[in-house]
Amino acid sequence: MLRALRGQQCERPPIWLMRQAGRYLPEYRLQRAGVGNFLDLCYTPELAAEVSLQPIRRFGFDAAILFSDILVIPDALGQTVHFEESVGPVLSPPVTDRQGIKRLKLSGLSERLNPIYETVRLLRASLPPAVALIGFAGGPWTVASYMVAGGASKDQAAAREFAYRHPADFAQLMDLLVDATAIYLTAQARAGAEVLQLFDSWAGVLPEPEFYRWCITPTQRIIARVRDYYPKVPFIGFPKGAGPLYADYARATGVAAVNVDTALPIEWAKDHLQPLVTVQGNLDPYLLVAGGAAMQAQTRQILERLGRNGRFIFNLGHGIAPHTPLEHVEQLVSMVKNWRN
Ligand code: CP3
Repeated sequence: MLRALRGQQCERPPIWLMRQAGRYLPEYRLQRAGVGNFLDLCYTPELAAEVSLQPIRRFGFDAAILFSDILVIPDALGQTVHFEESVGPVLSPPVTDRQGIKRLKLSGLSERLNPIYETVRLLRASLPPAVALIGFAGGPWTVASYMVAGGASKDQAAAREFAYRHPADFAQLMDLLVDATAIYLTAQARAGAEVLQLFDSWAGVLPEPEFYRWCITPTQRIIARVRDYYPKVPFIGFPKGAGPLYADYARATGVAAVNVDTALPIEWAKDHLQPLVTVQGNLDPYLLVAGGAAMQAQTRQILERLGRNGRFIFNLGHGIAPHTPLEHVEQLVSMVKNWRN
């Protein structure tokens, strides 16, 4: 994994899957049932570390991802965050104006997030050395969009309207998130995370100038801040839905790799991204649910087009779906591990 991130030739591409720790695993569901609140699971190091290790033991992935959530940042800044069954995250009150931004405080951040750093330390101590440990955070735009809407929303309309109507106020919220995210990721690196991924799941709703302002620039600032302390830590950026702006993102932010979404043409990623950075992706998570010949054919396509040069990490184009059959994941891992360059 680390060699692929440096662009060095590997005998086969490494593989891990976004959201690989989670509800498609029976052992996760069992453990989840014993904890009331989802965030309590994230803030209990022994349990969170165990959940991160589950997919490594079962499938032998080449990387483990810290078990946490992108919404621990709003929680640590003082917004109330909870997860409701079949509704998703609820953040209250929604941040709708300058007063709402003023209520958020950086001061309690480290204390609230300390258990997560402990999870990273536990993981690094228990993982085999060949398995890379990925820390992560949400991209500030994506996190802001949940904070402003007060939860999940169809098209991030509330945050887009806020940013157009009150750009100076929105910039203040983004500055706070850049600070918080840089502190959070620096502490993860200090605790033993070897790779850091930024999930900007809603980058694709932004028009070009806003994509620069609310996705590329904040990402670049976060990476520069973490690099002041950890100059070599590789970043993977996931500006989902960025289309051709993936190339601008790859050039401007300082990432070592980009995770490309399912809709991005493989050939385009090969021609326009691989010369710049390592590419991670992009099997359709629903092809992994369906399995069979279609999954195998697309997996082979991706491997043949992107896997021939060192700059490739096999992954999905978005997180694994909760109803994914375990046998399909097993087949996928074995296909990738047995494929030779
Ligand atoms: O395995 C891993 O990748 C590690 C952990 C991880 C979680 N969330 C655990 C989780 C990671 C990396 C995330 C990222 C995340 N969280 C994103 C970005 C990636 C993406 O999928 O777009 C976003 C947007 C969130 C916010 C979030 N968290 C939502 C909208 C929800 C509810 C919807 C859902 O998928 O359930 C969550 C909850 C969540 N985060 C769960 C898990 C395992 C399910 C909660 C449960 O078990 O009850």
